[in-house]
Amino acid sequence: MNILLLGSGGREHAMAWKLAQSPLLSRLYIAPGNAGTSTTGTNLNLSVNDFNAVKSAVLAYQIEMVVVGPEDPLVNGIHDFFLADPSIKHIPVIGPGRHAAKLEGSKDFAKEFMIRNGIPTARYQTFTRATLENGISFLQQLSPPYVLKADGLAAGKGVIICQTIDEAIIEFTEMILGSKFGNATQKVVIEEFLSGIELSVFVITDGKSYKLLPEAKDYKKIGAGDTGPNTGGMGSISPVPFADMQFMQKVEEKVIVPTMEGLIREGIDYNGFIFFGLMKVGDEPFVIEYNCRMGDPETESVIPRLKNDLVALFRAVADKTLDSTTMSIDPRTAATVMLVSKGYPGEYEKGAVITGTEMVTDSYVFHAGTAANPETGSTVTNGGRVIAVTSVGATMKEALEKSYESIGKINYKGKNFRPDIGFDLT
Ligand code: AMP
Ligand code: GLY
Repeated sequence: MNILLLGSGGREHAMAWKLAQSPLLSRLYIAPGNAGTSTTGTNLNLSVNDFNAVKSAVLAYQIEMVVVGPEDPLVNGIHDFFLADPSIKHIPVIGPGRHAAKLEGSKDFAKEFMIRNGIPTARYQTFTRATLENGISFLQQLSPPYVLKADGLAAGKGVIICQTIDEAIIEFTEMILGSKFGNATQKVVIEEFLSGIELSVFVITDGKSYKLLPEAKDYKKIGAGDTGPNTGGMGSISPVPFADMQFMQKVEEKVIVPTMEGLIREGIDYNGFIFFGLMKVGDEPFVIEYNCRMGDPETESVIPRLKNDLVALFRAVADKTLDSTTMSIDPRTAATVMLVSKGYPGEYEKGAVITGTEMVTDSYVFHAGTAANPETGSTVTNGGRVIAVTSVGATMKEALEKSYESIGKINYKGKNFRPDIGFDLT
């Protein structure tokens, strides 16, 4: 089978690496991909949001399945685009349609869905420009810290947590009246702050049944000890020690099953991944957010633990036969550390030559923001998050030691990383 994978991050390199191991795969194309994905298949230089270009590629390369990595094309309706076009409607797209993807694309839609289906989440209300004053009153009823969320996609920057009521009122007003997040601020969700520890839980579904994937913990802050601004993610660990069997049973019972049943009852056709961003408060799971895709860098520690053939798994999603699939997961720990560019998540330079990846023997090297320099052929930095290094070990300590040792072998100007991934889990 010929597969087109959309995306260009570490998540997509990890998926491409896994897809390429399948005997069911004929040819793999990645669009636009990065320097790492080009070692697993053929990169196509097109934008994931240019659906006509995706269609042309699908027809030109006899693609038989499209796997969507990031959220944007899903929220923008790539699945619906395929279904509406007779020349490509028979080609399965792994990833939900526009309506279902609103679980990620609209915080208000997601919160309403959770409330309707009795899924534990923080108390909230949604406000618009017309209800600004009510929003301020609602803030005054809550106690600090205050959580403000832009309704729409905001590239991971749509959540502001304020420590004081004055700051919260200023930010809230600015979010609604100003154009801080563009269209994303037509609605703002104000919600209660949940105090606990976060984890990411994933399922893959064909819309009828689902299979649980390994859970992971992601490290979002740039600085050691979880300090400084949020990033896309600086590392991840899977499994998560505090997500024991008892807790995961609660997650299934109180979160996953009601979500699946809600989707079915409400006629929301869903296929692909569901990412539950959870907060463990005491012993109870609360949903912070849904995403309609896998996490990054969680994928880089989840995929190496998956023993199933990924092409077969996607085929079962497309055929709606997931219920007869048996999952096989490596019980060992995978630890991912992200190498980033100096300055990230603020401004950073691109184009630094990356050396030493070929010296890494004990870890997987998943490229994120990398590119091949067309003149020299060397691999250069091309983003804030550059390379995810993942190692598998009998213990988290062993996996992390391997990843940090491998990181020492990779060099480029401005190399930066968190030295303490997993620090809170020992
Ligand atoms: P989100 O974009 O929804 O994932 O939110 C970004 C981050 O903000 C989350 O990963 C949490 O760390 C934090 N956050 C979001 N909602 C809440 C909440 N209700 N209580 C505490 N922290 C939150
Ligand atoms: N690592 C969090 C995310 O992918 O949204």
